[in-house]
Amino acid sequence: MNTLHAIAQRRSIRKFKADAIPEETLRQILLAATQAPSGKNKQPWHFVVVREDKRAEMVRIMREAIARFAEQGVDTGSSKWTVKVMAQAPVTVFVFNPYAEHGAGETGPDSAVWDIVDGQSIGAAIQNMLLAAQELGVGSLWICDVFYAYKELCAWLCQTTQMIAAVSLGIPDEAPGPRPRKAVDEVTAWF
Ligand SMILES: Cc1cc2nc3c(=O)[nH]c(=O)nc-3n(C[C@H](O)[C@H](O)[C@H](O)COP(=O)(O)O)c2cc1C
Repeated sequence: MNTLHAIAQRRSIRKFKADAIPEETLRQILLAATQAPSGKNKQPWHFVVVREDKRAEMVRIMREAIARFAEQGVDTGSSKWTVKVMAQAPVTVFVFNPYAEHGAGETGPDSAVWDIVDGQSIGAAIQNMLLAAQELGVGSLWICDVFYAYKELCAWLCQTTQMIAAVSLGIPDEAPGPRPRKAVDEVTAWF
């Protein structure tokens, strides 16, 4: 599969089969993540892989946190649906920035700049994961709804640094068509 084809064919997958993902496949996906470019080659990523035996606990933590927000009248957006996906996926990989403490970016301009640079590097790593997963026949969903349970998940995963996102992985049980995109000319100015 060539790169442009992989980019064009990738979809967010929200229905997974029950099949487990072999550890070797997960390692290939994580290797691809670590091959991403990064500002000053800092490689500002740390991955925590939640496998099947811990999945129910992860889902419970998410559901309880979302319910608490809902009780307070906070709009919990798409998080209910995202948790359903996480409950189905055999694996969810949490991505942390080990250089950033909770709330980093508030301590000075250097820190704010590094948050931006590191954020780009981590985004590249996550995208590599998604494309590698696809090449290996594994579906993926990039997830930020984990922020509804930010503190609870960090505590549960024993992480004191900044959680950036999660990626659920599994064998796809759906083949969605392409989601709409703005046209290149709509988002590009040529100078
Ligand atoms: C930073 C980021 C956060 C996302 N968070 C979620 C999420 O929490 N739940 C979800 O269902 N999809 C999430 N998505 C997936 C987007 O909804 C999806 O990429 C977009 O609708 C385009 O669809 P496609 O990925 O199939 O092209 C996220 C994507 C990105 C890049």
